[in-house]
Amino acid sequence: MLAIEGGKPIRANPIVARPVVYSEEVMRHIEEVLKSGVLTAQHGKWVREFERELAALLGVRYAYAVSNGTVALHVALKAIGVGPGDEVVTTPFTFAASATAVLHANAVPIFADIDRETLNLDPASVEETLTERTKAVVVVHLAGMPADMDQFAKLADRHGVKIVEDVAQALGAEFRGRRVGSFGHVAAFSLYATKNITSGEGGAVATDVAGYGERVRLLRSHGEVDKYSYEVLGYNYRMTELQGVLAYHQLRLLPEMQKRRETYVKTLLEELEKLDDFLTVPKPKPHVRHSWHLVQILLSIEKLRKPRNYVVEALRAEGIHNVFVAYPTPLYKTPLFQRREGHGLGCPWSCPYYKRGVEYKPLPNAEWASERVVTLLVMPNLTEQDAVDTAAAFGKVLNALKR
Ligand SMILES: Cc1ncc(COP(=O)(O)O)c(C=O)c1O
Repeated sequence: MLAIEGGKPIRANPIVARPVVYSEEVMRHIEEVLKSGVLTAQHGKWVREFERELAALLGVRYAYAVSNGTVALHVALKAIGVGPGDEVVTTPFTFAASATAVLHANAVPIFADIDRETLNLDPASVEETLTERTKAVVVVHLAGMPADMDQFAKLADRHGVKIVEDVAQALGAEFRGRRVGSFGHVAAFSLYATKNITSGEGGAVATDVAGYGERVRLLRSHGEVDKYSYEVLGYNYRMTELQGVLAYHQLRLLPEMQKRRETYVKTLLEELEKLDDFLTVPKPKPHVRHSWHLVQILLSIEKLRKPRNYVVEALRAEGIHNVFVAYPTPLYKTPLFQRREGHGLGCPWSCPYYKRGVEYKPLPNAEWASERVVTLLVMPNLTEQDAVDTAAAFGKVLNALKR
């Protein structure tokens, strides 16, 4: 009997995905920072060391740490000159920040459809949305699956649009042997607690273009060029030294953590293969390396007698606590983008798409994916046994709910 119906769960001790951040060395360095009293990046070394390592890893000249991935996208867009009246194309099948950052830059988000095999933006669909007002495309490497950067490079050349990579979920991923985050005009990273490296909250922007790097540096810190001399309207989007210690050590641990993710996922995919009647997993093509932030599983919902959300609840009851849905609603269907009444916080009535009268139309592949996707959060603490048990829980639940 299913655990959700009172049966015995597959896992008595539930599977919980957690970041691996603690080490004696990290503690020692945190202690040093606390003892020194130097808590801010302007006067410390850790944030700077993190930035140096990140730029080196990506093979780009500039990397700047910021407070989180959302503001990383915001300053990335502003750095390439996105502003009022501009259109920026992105995917609706992503976390909100990929599109809300466009709103924060006073520009109009335009949604294009995704590709069913990667769940990433489909370059052909992007091309159909381009107008003379399109300034940029925010290319999200969703779940850690690299988007087709060959096609986006061609598109950028052909149409003179800028590419912003949203690498929030994909640090560690590669496309044709090159790190994602090094392809676009500018790239934004998140170091939120669930991401491939974390400082609790945190983010970064990377670019190989000196002018963009300089703007990011200014924008993240009040637009200040010299002490109390402000050149542009900036923000306080800085990372602290304590976060810098974590970010630096996490980046050094990235190869090891990536291997652990790959080991877990390899076993998981082998086991899930046995359930191919009920589900499919978008697989990375041979020329890419997936960062496995998430495993996206597409259910054959028409073969089940209960809705997708019941499957998720049933899996949780079996002790699979790292299961959730990313993402249940294409962004254009959420109230923010539906022009419904706001909460007096400035949107949606003041949003540029509202003023412009932009109507968001349903996109078939995004709808298809969001109604059948079930997501596993992958973390380096997960073991091969966890993978075996997770697949067993899927098998138990899906067979029990078969139509
Ligand atoms: C695709 C994507 N973009 C942007 C963000 C924003 O990052 P943060 O939560 O650090 O603001 C996230 C993560 O939360 C994300 O998953």
